[in-house]
Amino acid sequence: MPPNAPAGVSAGEERIAEDAAVRFAAAENEHTLDEAKAAFLNKNGLLQPLLREIGALPPSERPAAGQKLNELRRRIEKLYEEGRNRLRAAAVSRDLVRGVDISLPGRESFSGAVHPVSLAAGRATAVLSAVGFQVADGPEIETDYYNFTALNHPPDHPARSMHDTFYTADGRLLRTHTSPVQIRYMLSKKTPPIRAIAPGRVYRRDHDATHSPMFHQIEGIWIDESVNFANLKGILGAFFRSFFDDENITVRFRPSFFPFTEPSAECDILRGGKWLEVAGCGMIHPNVLKHGGVDSGAFRGFAFGMGVERLAMLLYNIADIRHFYENDMQFLAQFAGE
Ligand code: DAH
Repeated sequence: MPPNAPAGVSAGEERIAEDAAVRFAAAENEHTLDEAKAAFLNKNGLLQPLLREIGALPPSERPAAGQKLNELRRRIEKLYEEGRNRLRAAAVSRDLVRGVDISLPGRESFSGAVHPVSLAAGRATAVLSAVGFQVADGPEIETDYYNFTALNHPPDHPARSMHDTFYTADGRLLRTHTSPVQIRYMLSKKTPPIRAIAPGRVYRRDHDATHSPMFHQIEGIWIDESVNFANLKGILGAFFRSFFDDENITVRFRPSFFPFTEPSAECDILRGGKWLEVAGCGMIHPNVLKHGGVDSGAFRGFAFGMGVERLAMLLYNIADIRHFYENDMQFLAQFAGE
């Protein structure tokens, strides 16, 4: 020990502190930083000889020397912390340069929910299958024959232009209603009883607050030996009461026209003091039965068609059909858990 060394521990302390400052400042990654820390503070580290020197001091000088050594230890720990902070800050700015802001909060994940149109279609399907309707399906790209001709629209009949039809380049069309499934289903069965519903997408060249170019319908048919209009009224009334879960709903039938039914009617429900149009329906026209391969002398049937968006708008009090297709998460999230 040099003769002029301060009382207690060797003047090596200052040098050790300076060495540590240089070494921690030079550390370029966590690993070299940890190595530096170990070199000074470990059991066999550079502070160890100082500790031994204290042991050799007269007891009266030991506390002061011990305090100085502790101070040195704290300085080194602080250098280590500063080194870590410096490396972290450098990592953040590197990521920022690369365009990644790792300080941003993580992206929340959320679970999806069933779309309100699917909810309404599912609900209608559940009510009708519970009373024996089979669920049928048909193509969305249809032929003129199934969409119009087989449904008793003569060639040039004005009813064809009632539907603003999308045609494909190969002369087919996007079905304008689910009614062609009536024909396809009859052809697949031929012998009644035939009782089916067909939920699905339909397309028309329409776009405003109450019309979307793609929307959904549910078609229904019931064909048997003695099916009559009273059965149709009974089924539809029961359906709407069950669908809206409201025993007090009354239905009203207004004479109407569809080429594929005779007689035809428009069905309204009285809900909240207002008459609302909710379905088209009627007794299936004998020509339609014939095109479906069903003996129109022996069997009769009724048919109905409803707009699913319309049902969903009434069920959930939605004012504008476009809400369904804007993919606004705030709108859609309202139906989670329905
Ligand atoms: N297909 C008709 C439409 O899209 C709805 C319709 C009316 C379907 C009467 C039917 C029916 O089955 O009997 O406007």
